[in-house]
Amino acid sequence: MFKKRNAIENVSPYSRLAEIYDHVMRHVDYVHWASYVESLFDRHDASPDTVLDLACGTGSLAIELHRRGYGASGADGCLEMMEEGCRKVSALDYPITFYHRNLLDLHDLPTYDAVLCLYDSINYMMTLEDMAQAFEMIGNVVKPGGIVIFDACTESNSLQHFNDMKEKDAGDGFSYVRHSYFKDGIQYNKFDIHFEADDTSAQEVHQQRIYPLSDIRSVLESSRFEIEAAYSGFGYASPNELSDRVHFVLRG
Ligand SMILES: C[S@@+](CC[C@H](N)C(=O)[O-])C[C@H]1O[C@@H](n2cnc3c(N)ncnc32)[C@H](O)[C@@H]1O
Repeated sequence: MFKKRNAIENVSPYSRLAEIYDHVMRHVDYVHWASYVESLFDRHDASPDTVLDLACGTGSLAIELHRRGYGASGADGCLEMMEEGCRKVSALDYPITFYHRNLLDLHDLPTYDAVLCLYDSINYMMTLEDMAQAFEMIGNVVKPGGIVIFDACTESNSLQHFNDMKEKDAGDGFSYVRHSYFKDGIQYNKFDIHFEADDTSAQEVHQQRIYPLSDIRSVLESSRFEIEAAYSGFGYASPNELSDRVHFVLRG
């Protein structure tokens, strides 16, 4: 007799991926990303003591920043991602605080010398109005004269890496299939995850809107921030639509 698998449950983005996020993202070099962020601090004459990583996920970058001597905190809109972050920092005994916050509502947070929002997280803003609202909110958490660094994914990146791409993988106690596709300016990442321990399966569909750089610039130009620079990838050249990702540096 075949054992009938439990039905697949549709769940909210990152709520089950959280458990396996660090495995799925194990190719991401957060040490390198932290070094790049520090190089931008230097280049822009910023010497922050405190740093808030928005949409921090499971806290890998905040952990690396703490190791480098910053007073690092994280905030994320997904409770399960933050809980993974909390587990990691309590095992390491690092004093990193996590806040459960949507980018659209960052009230009641302390202010920071530097605020980050990395790894395409701003692309979760599905309209330019939401992006403007997020920058309005970010304006409340960065100290006057403080620095904000965020990155955005380009269409070129989506077309190269997320255009009908399928990936199958497995780790300790789970397996997953990821299907990425790009349609009408939206990058979709559909995850079907199976957890062996309780024989459950979950499906998450993540959507990110990919904006032309000119749209992002026009939102920033109407914000309270000054755009100090935009850089292609992890370098210092001017970006264009063929850049893989673009890092923006803003002054509060
Ligand atoms: C691609 S992950 C990046 C996480 C982390 N920055 C990293 O580098 O691993 C995107 C993160 O954005 C968070 N996120 C998506 N939409 C959000 C929103 N509206 N407010 C706050 N966080 C959000 C997700 O929960 C997820 O942790």
